[in-house]
Amino acid sequence: MADRGFTSSTQAVPAVGSVPRHIAIIMDGNGRWARKRFLPRVAGHSRGVEALRGTIRAAIERGVEYLTVFAFSSENWRRPADEVSFLMQLFIKSLKKEVSRLHENGIRFRVVGELSRFEPPLVNAIAAAEELTAGNTRLHLTIAANYGGRWDVLCAVNRVLAKTPGLAEVSEEAIDAELSMSFAPEPDLFIRTGGEQRISNFLLWQLAYSEFYFTDTLWPDFDADTLDRAIASYRERERRFGRTSEQLTAAGNVGRHA
Ligand code: IPE
Ligand code: IPE
Ligand code: MG
Repeated sequence: MADRGFTSSTQAVPAVGSVPRHIAIIMDGNGRWARKRFLPRVAGHSRGVEALRGTIRAAIERGVEYLTVFAFSSENWRRPADEVSFLMQLFIKSLKKEVSRLHENGIRFRVVGELSRFEPPLVNAIAAAEELTAGNTRLHLTIAANYGGRWDVLCAVNRVLAKTPGLAEVSEEAIDAELSMSFAPEPDLFIRTGGEQRISNFLLWQLAYSEFYFTDTLWPDFDADTLDRAIASYRERERRFGRTSEQLTAAGNVGRHA
Protein backbone atom coordinates (compact mmCIF):
# COMPACT_ATOMS: atom_id res chain seq x y z
CA MET A 1 0.00 0.00 0.00
CA ALA A 2 1.49 3.25 -1.11
CA ASP A 3 0.80 5.20 2.08
CA ARG A 4 2.50 2.67 4.37
CA GLY A 5 5.32 1.57 2.08
CA PHE A 6 4.19 -2.04 1.57
CA THR A 7 2.39 -3.75 -1.28
CA SER A 8 -0.96 -5.38 -0.56
CA SER A 9 -0.92 -8.86 -2.16
CA THR A 10 -4.37 -8.38 -3.64
CA GLN A 11 -3.77 -4.88 -5.00
CA ALA A 12 -0.40 -5.53 -6.70
CA VAL A 13 2.27 -8.24 -6.85
CA PRO A 14 4.65 -7.86 -3.87
CA ALA A 15 8.43 -8.24 -4.20
CA VAL A 16 9.69 -11.74 -3.40
CA GLY A 17 13.14 -12.46 -1.91
CA SER A 18 14.88 -15.72 -1.03
CA VAL A 19 14.60 -14.96 2.68
CA PRO A 20 11.07 -14.35 3.90
CA ARG A 21 10.85 -10.76 5.12
CA HIS A 22 8.03 -11.62 7.47
CA ILE A 23 7.51 -14.98 9.20
CA ALA A 24 4.37 -15.64 11.25
CA ILE A 25 4.29 -18.65 13.56
CA ILE A 26 1.58 -20.49 15.48
CA MET A 27 3.63 -21.91 18.33
CA ASP A 28 1.60 -25.05 19.03
CA GLY A 29 2.24 -28.32 20.83
CA ASN A 30 3.54 -27.20 24.24
CA GLY A 31 1.01 -29.28 26.17
CA ARG A 32 1.73 -32.45 24.18
CA TRP A 33 5.49 -31.91 24.55
CA ALA A 34 5.05 -31.88 28.34
CA ARG A 35 2.60 -34.80 28.44
CA LYS A 36 5.03 -36.98 26.49
CA ARG A 37 7.47 -36.42 29.34
CA PHE A 38 4.87 -36.99 32.08
CA LEU A 39 5.16 -33.33 33.04
CA PRO A 40 2.30 -30.89 33.64
CA ARG A 41 1.18 -29.05 30.48
CA VAL A 42 2.55 -25.77 31.79
CA ALA A 43 6.10 -27.15 31.76
CA GLY A 44 5.71 -27.16 27.98
CA HIS A 45 4.84 -23.47 28.01
CA SER A 46 7.99 -22.68 29.98
CA ARG A 47 10.08 -24.62 27.46
CA GLY A 48 8.21 -22.82 24.71
CA VAL A 49 9.74 -19.52 25.85
CA GLU A 50 13.22 -21.05 25.38
CA ALA A 51 12.28 -22.14 21.87
CA LEU A 52 11.10 -18.63 21.08
CA ARG A 53 14.40 -17.17 22.29
CA GLY A 54 16.33 -19.45 19.92
CA THR A 55 13.97 -18.72 17.05
CA ILE A 56 14.41 -14.96 17.47
CA ARG A 57 18.19 -15.36 17.33
CA ALA A 58 18.00 -17.59 14.25
CA ALA A 59 15.58 -15.23 12.51
CA ILE A 60 17.96 -12.30 13.02
CA GLU A 61 20.92 -14.33 11.73
CA ARG A 62 18.99 -15.22 8.60
CA GLY A 63 17.98 -11.65 7.86
CA VAL A 64 14.28 -11.95 8.63
CA GLU A 65 12.84 -8.47 9.28
CA TYR A 66 9.51 -9.29 10.92
CA LEU A 67 8.73 -12.21 13.23
CA THR A 68 5.16 -12.48 14.49
CA VAL A 69 4.19 -15.23 16.91
CA PHE A 70 0.84 -16.37 18.27
CA ALA A 71 1.19 -16.70 22.04
CA PHE A 72 -2.43 -16.62 23.23
CA SER A 73 -5.58 -16.61 21.16
CA SER A 74 -8.87 -14.92 22.03
CA GLU A 75 -10.24 -18.47 22.32
CA ASN A 76 -7.55 -19.64 24.77
CA TRP A 77 -9.54 -18.10 27.66
CA ARG A 78 -11.62 -21.28 27.36
CA ARG A 79 -8.76 -23.26 28.94
CA PRO A 80 -8.69 -24.22 32.64
CA ALA A 81 -8.27 -21.14 34.82
CA ASP A 82 -5.00 -22.34 36.33
CA GLU A 83 -3.40 -22.80 32.90
CA VAL A 84 -4.56 -19.34 31.78
CA SER A 85 -3.21 -17.84 34.96
CA PHE A 86 0.14 -19.63 34.51
CA LEU A 87 0.41 -18.31 30.96
CA MET A 88 -0.22 -14.73 32.11
CA GLN A 89 2.42 -15.05 34.85
CA LEU A 90 4.86 -16.58 32.37
CA PHE A 91 4.24 -13.75 29.93
CA ILE A 92 4.99 -11.03 32.46
CA LYS A 93 7.95 -12.90 33.95
CA SER A 94 9.53 -13.54 30.54
CA LEU A 95 8.91 -9.99 29.40
CA LYS A 96 10.61 -8.50 32.45
CA LYS A 97 13.51 -10.93 32.15
CA GLU A 98 14.07 -10.52 28.41
CA VAL A 99 13.28 -6.89 27.66
CA SER A 100 16.78 -5.50 28.12
CA ARG A 101 18.25 -8.31 26.03
CA LEU A 102 15.72 -7.65 23.28
CA HIS A 103 16.68 -3.99 23.35
CA GLU A 104 20.43 -4.69 23.30
CA ASN A 105 19.88 -6.82 20.23
CA GLY A 106 18.13 -4.04 18.36
CA ILE A 107 14.73 -5.72 18.46
CA ARG A 108 11.56 -3.68 18.22
CA PHE A 109 8.97 -5.32 20.44
CA ARG A 110 5.21 -5.04 19.97
CA VAL A 111 2.14 -6.84 21.21
CA VAL A 112 -1.02 -7.06 19.11
CA GLY A 113 -4.36 -8.18 20.52
CA GLU A 114 -7.05 -6.96 22.86
CA LEU A 115 -4.94 -5.88 25.83
CA SER A 116 -7.82 -4.54 27.91
CA ARG A 117 -8.52 -8.03 29.25
CA PHE A 118 -5.06 -8.33 30.80
CA GLU A 119 -4.15 -7.33 34.37
CA PRO A 120 -2.63 -3.83 34.72
CA PRO A 121 0.92 -5.07 35.62
CA LEU A 122 1.08 -6.99 32.34
CA VAL A 123 -0.37 -4.10 30.32
CA ASN A 124 2.19 -1.77 31.93
CA ALA A 125 5.10 -4.13 31.27
CA ILE A 126 4.05 -4.37 27.61
CA ALA A 127 3.80 -0.59 27.27
CA ALA A 128 7.24 -0.14 28.87
CA ALA A 129 8.83 -2.72 26.56
CA GLU A 130 7.22 -1.18 23.48
CA GLU A 131 8.41 2.27 24.48
CA LEU A 132 11.97 1.16 25.30
CA THR A 133 12.40 -0.61 21.95
CA ALA A 134 10.46 1.88 19.78
CA GLY A 135 13.59 3.12 17.99
CA ASN A 136 14.93 -0.34 17.06
CA THR A 137 14.81 -1.72 13.52
CA ARG A 138 16.92 -4.93 13.37
CA LEU A 139 13.97 -7.27 13.89
CA HIS A 140 10.33 -6.39 14.45
CA LEU A 141 9.17 -8.95 16.99
CA THR A 142 5.42 -9.01 17.49
CA ILE A 143 3.61 -11.17 20.02
CA ALA A 144 -0.06 -11.82 19.29
CA ALA A 145 -1.76 -12.08 22.68
CA ASN A 146 -5.50 -12.24 23.23
CA TYR A 147 -5.49 -11.88 19.46
CA GLY A 148 -8.14 -13.06 17.03
CA GLY A 149 -8.14 -12.50 13.29
CA ARG A 150 -11.85 -11.68 13.21
CA TRP A 151 -11.49 -9.27 16.10
CA ASP A 152 -8.71 -7.52 14.19
CA VAL A 153 -10.75 -7.10 10.99
CA LEU A 154 -13.87 -5.99 12.89
CA CYS A 155 -11.91 -3.41 14.90
CA ALA A 156 -10.36 -2.08 11.71
CA VAL A 157 -13.75 -1.73 9.99
CA ASN A 158 -15.21 -0.02 13.04
CA ARG A 159 -12.29 2.39 13.22
CA VAL A 160 -12.73 3.30 9.56
CA LEU A 161 -16.44 3.95 10.14
CA ALA A 162 -15.77 6.00 13.26
CA LYS A 163 -13.28 8.19 11.40
CA THR A 164 -15.69 8.97 8.56
CA PRO A 165 -19.28 9.11 9.80
CA GLY A 166 -21.83 8.40 7.08
CA LEU A 167 -19.37 6.42 4.93
CA ALA A 168 -21.33 4.24 2.48
CA GLU A 169 -18.60 1.77 1.60
CA VAL A 170 -15.39 0.65 3.28
CA SER A 171 -12.37 0.10 1.03
CA GLU A 172 -9.71 -2.61 1.27
CA GLU A 173 -7.00 0.04 1.65
CA ALA A 174 -8.83 1.70 4.52
CA ILE A 175 -9.21 -1.60 6.42
CA ASP A 176 -5.60 -2.53 5.70
CA ALA A 177 -4.34 0.70 7.22
CA GLU A 178 -6.31 0.14 10.45
CA LEU A 179 -5.33 -3.48 11.12
CA SER A 180 -3.12 -4.13 14.12
CA MET A 181 -0.28 -5.31 11.83
CA SER A 182 -0.50 -2.29 9.50
CA PHE A 183 3.16 -1.50 10.28
CA ALA A 184 4.35 -4.71 8.61
CA PRO A 185 4.29 -6.27 5.16
CA GLU A 186 2.03 -9.33 4.90
CA PRO A 187 3.68 -12.56 6.13
CA ASP A 188 5.65 -14.32 3.38
CA LEU A 189 5.83 -17.54 5.36
CA PHE A 190 3.33 -18.94 7.86
CA ILE A 191 4.54 -21.79 10.08
CA ARG A 192 2.44 -23.92 12.39
CA THR A 193 4.13 -26.43 14.68
CA GLY A 194 2.44 -29.27 16.54
CA GLY A 195 0.90 -31.07 13.57
CA GLU A 196 -2.46 -29.30 13.28
CA GLN A 197 -3.23 -27.82 9.89
CA ARG A 198 -5.48 -24.87 10.67
CA ILE A 199 -5.30 -21.11 11.17
CA SER A 200 -7.13 -21.03 14.55
CA ASN A 201 -8.25 -17.43 13.97
CA PHE A 202 -4.70 -16.06 13.56
CA LEU A 203 -3.95 -13.40 10.91
CA LEU A 204 -6.95 -14.09 8.66
CA TRP A 205 -6.66 -10.99 6.48
CA GLN A 206 -2.89 -10.85 6.26
CA LEU A 207 -2.35 -14.52 5.31
CA ALA A 208 -4.17 -14.06 1.98
CA TYR A 209 -1.05 -14.95 -0.08
CA SER A 210 1.36 -16.32 2.52
CA GLU A 211 3.11 -19.65 1.94
CA PHE A 212 2.01 -22.23 4.53
CA TYR A 213 4.36 -24.66 6.25
CA PHE A 214 3.11 -27.25 8.72
CA THR A 215 5.42 -29.38 10.84
CA ASP A 216 4.79 -32.13 13.40
CA THR A 217 7.64 -30.72 15.50
CA LEU A 218 6.21 -29.62 18.84
CA TRP A 219 6.95 -25.97 19.61
CA PRO A 220 9.41 -26.59 22.51
CA ASP A 221 11.52 -28.65 20.07
CA PHE A 222 11.54 -25.94 17.39
CA ASP A 223 15.02 -24.58 16.70
CA ALA A 224 17.27 -23.07 14.02
CA ASP A 225 17.28 -26.36 12.04
CA THR A 226 13.48 -26.55 11.95
CA LEU A 227 13.36 -22.91 10.91
CA ASP A 228 15.83 -23.63 8.13
CA ARG A 229 13.68 -26.52 6.89
CA ALA A 230 10.69 -24.18 6.73
CA ILE A 231 12.69 -21.54 4.85
CA ALA A 232 14.08 -24.20 2.48
CA SER A 233 10.52 -25.31 1.71
CA TYR A 234 9.53 -21.67 1.18
CA ARG A 235 12.33 -21.27 -1.36
CA GLU A 236 10.94 -24.12 -3.43
CA ARG A 237 7.58 -22.42 -3.80
CA GLU A 238 6.57 -20.47 -6.84
CA ARG A 239 4.69 -17.42 -5.60
CA ARG A 240 2.38 -16.68 -8.49
CA PHE A 241 -0.08 -14.27 -6.87
CA GLY A 242 -2.70 -15.30 -9.41
CA ARG A 243 -0.44 -15.33 -12.48
CA THR A 244 0.70 -18.31 -14.52
CA SER A 245 4.11 -19.97 -14.38
CA GLU A 246 4.78 -18.79 -17.94
CA GLN A 247 4.22 -15.21 -16.90
CA LEU A 248 6.84 -15.56 -14.17
CA THR A 249 9.34 -16.84 -16.73
CA ALA A 250 8.55 -13.94 -19.05
CA ALA A 251 8.97 -11.50 -16.16
CA GLY A 252 12.50 -12.80 -15.42
CA ASN A 253 11.49 -15.37 -12.76
CA VAL A 254 10.29 -12.81 -10.25
CA GLY A 255 8.53 -14.88 -7.57
CA ARG A 256 10.67 -17.99 -8.16
CA HIS A 257 13.36 -18.67 -5.61
CA ALA A 258 15.26 -21.63 -7.00
C1 IPE B 1 0.46 -23.74 22.33
O1 IPE B 1 0.58 -25.01 22.87
C2 IPE B 1 0.50 -22.66 23.39
C3 IPE B 1 -0.78 -21.99 23.62
C4 IPE B 1 -1.87 -22.17 22.93
C5 IPE B 1 -0.81 -21.03 24.69
P1 IPE B 1 -0.68 -25.79 23.41
O2 IPE B 1 -0.88 -25.46 24.85
O3 IPE B 1 -1.86 -25.54 22.53
O4 IPE B 1 -0.20 -27.28 23.28
P2 IPE B 1 -1.06 -28.53 22.78
O5 IPE B 1 -1.63 -28.17 21.44
O6 IPE B 1 -2.14 -28.76 23.80
O7 IPE B 1 -0.07 -29.65 22.73
C1 IPE C 1 -3.45 -21.67 18.64
O1 IPE C 1 -3.19 -22.85 19.34
C2 IPE C 1 -3.12 -20.51 19.48
C3 IPE C 1 -1.74 -20.39 19.94
C4 IPE C 1 -0.72 -21.13 19.60
C5 IPE C 1 -1.52 -19.33 20.85
P1 IPE C 1 -4.36 -23.70 19.99
O2 IPE C 1 -3.75 -24.94 20.51
O3 IPE C 1 -5.12 -22.88 20.96
O4 IPE C 1 -5.30 -24.00 18.72
P2 IPE C 1 -6.49 -25.03 18.54
O5 IPE C 1 -7.46 -24.78 19.65
O6 IPE C 1 -5.92 -26.41 18.64
O7 IPE C 1 -7.04 -24.74 17.19
MG1 MG D 1 -2.61 -26.46 20.89
